[in-house]
Amino acid sequence: MLGLQWGDEGKGKIVDVLTPKYDVISRFQGGPNAGHTLEINNFRQVLHTIPSGIFHENKLNVIGNGVVIDPITFEKEIESISKHGVNLHNTLYISKKAHLILPTHRLLDAASEDAKGITKIGSTLKGIGPTYRDKIGRDGLRVGDLFENFIEKYTLKVQAHKDLLDNYYHYDYSAKLVELEQEWMKGIEILKSFKIVDTEHLINESLIENKSVLAEGAQGTMLDIDFGSYPFVTSSNTICAGACTGLGIAPNKIGNVYGIFKAYCTRVGMGPFPTELFDIDGQNMRDVGREYGSTTGRPRRCGWLDLVALKYSIMLNGVSELIMMKADVLDKFGIIKICVGYEINGEITEKFPFELNDQVKPVYIELPGWQTDLTQLSDQNEFPEEFNNYINFIEEQVGVPITIASVGPNRAQTILMGQ
Ligand code: GDP
Ligand code: IMO
Ligand code: MG
Repeated sequence: MLGLQWGDEGKGKIVDVLTPKYDVISRFQGGPNAGHTLEINNFRQVLHTIPSGIFHENKLNVIGNGVVIDPITFEKEIESISKHGVNLHNTLYISKKAHLILPTHRLLDAASEDAKGITKIGSTLKGIGPTYRDKIGRDGLRVGDLFENFIEKYTLKVQAHKDLLDNYYHYDYSAKLVELEQEWMKGIEILKSFKIVDTEHLINESLIENKSVLAEGAQGTMLDIDFGSYPFVTSSNTICAGACTGLGIAPNKIGNVYGIFKAYCTRVGMGPFPTELFDIDGQNMRDVGREYGSTTGRPRRCGWLDLVALKYSIMLNGVSELIMMKADVLDKFGIIKICVGYEINGEITEKFPFELNDQVKPVYIELPGWQTDLTQLSDQNEFPEEFNNYINFIEEQVGVPITIASVGPNRAQTILMGQ
């Protein structure tokens, strides 16, 4: 299950909804930059590193090798879910090969963003970029390293990071580091109390036993390190192929590919966003959709649905089923716009370009709004005609069926299509 836009499509909610159909729920990339929100009856939970199926019993939960783990956030998350009576000691498996976000990775993230000034990425500052940089640079520490000469290895890495902070970034960190390190060392003890294994074996054995595995994407395709709006992206492959490398499963084991998108678009952080709205319509989307970051609380930038970007994402991921989220946020709009092409230097194209720079202007079509409260509906047969038209238009344009429509944040506000 993958996000097709700039993240925050509603992945957490849908993983929770789909979990009853699966035996194993796994995360394969990203880290605590993710914030996946679940609303179940009367409570709300945001998850950052832990897979979103945990409120269902008898499931295996896996944090795969492609994920980067911050023991501080992990500990907080474990504490927060324990308040709801969830204990994952027997059901959560963490890859020995997942990389650790060290306290100094967080500091390096902040130092790097400061140094970039106005060209900054708008990172969540969770240390994601520096951790993946060390992974690819063959300088990282993995969860499996916690069990052998750890302090020695840790001290070496941290010294190298301190050298960078001191001599390259000239970044003042001493007070912060002491505090972070204390929390971090507490966090690794909690982390070590969970099952730490080679999860690629667990996942493949599960598949051989005909168990079904749901892979939960983080971020979205437009934030993919290769295909997103580089450099305003995250540092991992958020697309379907990332599930193969991030879990250790072969491409021919992939079955259904769920692609999840909002009925409009949002982006948090810097970088191009062709359909962004700076007017009252954008503000309405933000207010009604409560578009504020689940991880950082930052206001999300809002705009109309972009079919050029959506088609590109569907292509890259091989999406077989679409899930449309948050249509209810558009309930009050009289006219709804959809971007069906880009005008670049006077030419109109439906093909996603190399770069989404200032030359890229969205070309819109307009559809009448449904002006109906969708949040109260529970069956597709109750959909207003205009909403059916909106769905049909998207399906015709992208050539993939929408099989689930979400009409509110709660688990129950989910409508299965064609049932
Ligand atoms: P994720 O990162 O993809 O899991 O998405 P986030 O949790 O960061 O952001 C999605 C937000 O929209 C959360 O606050 C959800 O509770 C909320 N949400 C999810 N689905 C719907 C929906 O269909 N309608 C509305 N109004 N809110 C939704
Ligand atoms: P979920 O899984 C939305 C954005 C940041 C920034 C860029 C790089 O909840 O959809 P990073 O922290 O990776 O260095 O940030 O990516 N970003 C997200 N935006 N949802 C997310 O995750 C995001 N994770 C990172 O805002 O622009
Ligand atoms: Mg989110």
